[in-house]
Amino acid sequence: MEQKRHAAWAEEMLEKVRDKMAWVSEKNRDRIPYTTDEKGNYDDRSDEGRAWNPDDGLCWWTNGFWGGIMWLLYQDTGEQRYLEIARSSEKKLEKCFDSFYGLHHDVGFMFQPTAVTDYRLTGNADSRRIALHAANLLAGRFNPAGRFIRAWNRTGERDNSGWAIIDCMFNISLLYWASAESGDPRFRQIAMLHADTVMEHFIRPDGSVCHIVEFDPESGKMLGSLGGQGYGEGSSWTRGQGWALYGFACSYANTGKAAYLEAAERVARYCMANIPESGIIPVDFRQPGDAAWEDSCGACIIAGGFLELAKHVRKSAGEEYRDCAVRILKAIADTRADWSEGCDAIVQNCSASWHDSRHHFTMVYADYFLIEALYRLAGTDVRMWLAGEAGAVGAAREE
Ligand code: GLY
Repeated sequence: MEQKRHAAWAEEMLEKVRDKMAWVSEKNRDRIPYTTDEKGNYDDRSDEGRAWNPDDGLCWWTNGFWGGIMWLLYQDTGEQRYLEIARSSEKKLEKCFDSFYGLHHDVGFMFQPTAVTDYRLTGNADSRRIALHAANLLAGRFNPAGRFIRAWNRTGERDNSGWAIIDCMFNISLLYWASAESGDPRFRQIAMLHADTVMEHFIRPDGSVCHIVEFDPESGKMLGSLGGQGYGEGSSWTRGQGWALYGFACSYANTGKAAYLEAAERVARYCMANIPESGIIPVDFRQPGDAAWEDSCGACIIAGGFLELAKHVRKSAGEEYRDCAVRILKAIADTRADWSEGCDAIVQNCSASWHDSRHHFTMVYADYFLIEALYRLAGTDVRMWLAGEAGAVGAAREE
């Protein structure tokens, strides 16, 4: 009964998504957007000439989510224009391989919603090649001594070759896919070794997770943790909690390893205990009490994690997780969403990092995770991050 009510609400929101994305996609069909300017117009991160720069060029880590939104809408509406826009962004992203230096652990975010999804939905052989190429780059970042996937490339003074970050729990979905597709177990083995390291060194006894863990890249010994995009060392960056919750739920779905389900549940319980009654999510669950910075993007990712997790646990726990996801999504859709023609993006009040000077802006992947969660709630079997046989969004609607 409750599930039907949730589905009806999500369908109502999806009508708004379809209306908005019809004009947003046409207006921005030749771009790969990240955020909007003060007039509400999307920017364009597809500058091939700056592909080497991981901060604003073609290799910018969120560049796969625009294509991901297009594929979700293509699956839903069957409209060819969504396929065309998704594929054109994928062809642009392929040029990142030439530049190489701009690419890092985030190739999963870039190529799973684009090339993997194109291949799964259309059988496009060229997309399979692109996706496997990306998976090889990700696997190549594995440090066997510490059994972790290295995060960013070195750009400053500090040697970061021993850094691993929680975000990578999501990127490793690409490796599960690559093993399932190629029949070569190495990709899955690397993903699982990394996930095991994250269970051991990132998740604290109370279920919170840290953002960055530093290892000695030679011996593999853990040296300490860093606050990263959160408030500080020992804090709990909310988007990072989302990457852990959703990432472990997907790792469980992709491998069946029970410890990953337990890890996802531990993080889920911690999140549930810390999400404010309003459903509005701060940048960090441990930010100072008088701080008002929010991250709507982290909110949508946490909601997606609850919805994936709900599929794998007993009914009563699943209902609890689903209810929590709905509380968050309603807070976003009712109070932090712009459904008008005044802004290209839907989700407002996102923050990339606590210590940035800029907060409360739009980010394309917040829209992606909101739309994905709405499809899930409406009953679509979303399989974007799963290695199974079915398409990125399963054809079947759950009853
Ligand atoms: N790189 C992932 C994030 O900022 O959330």
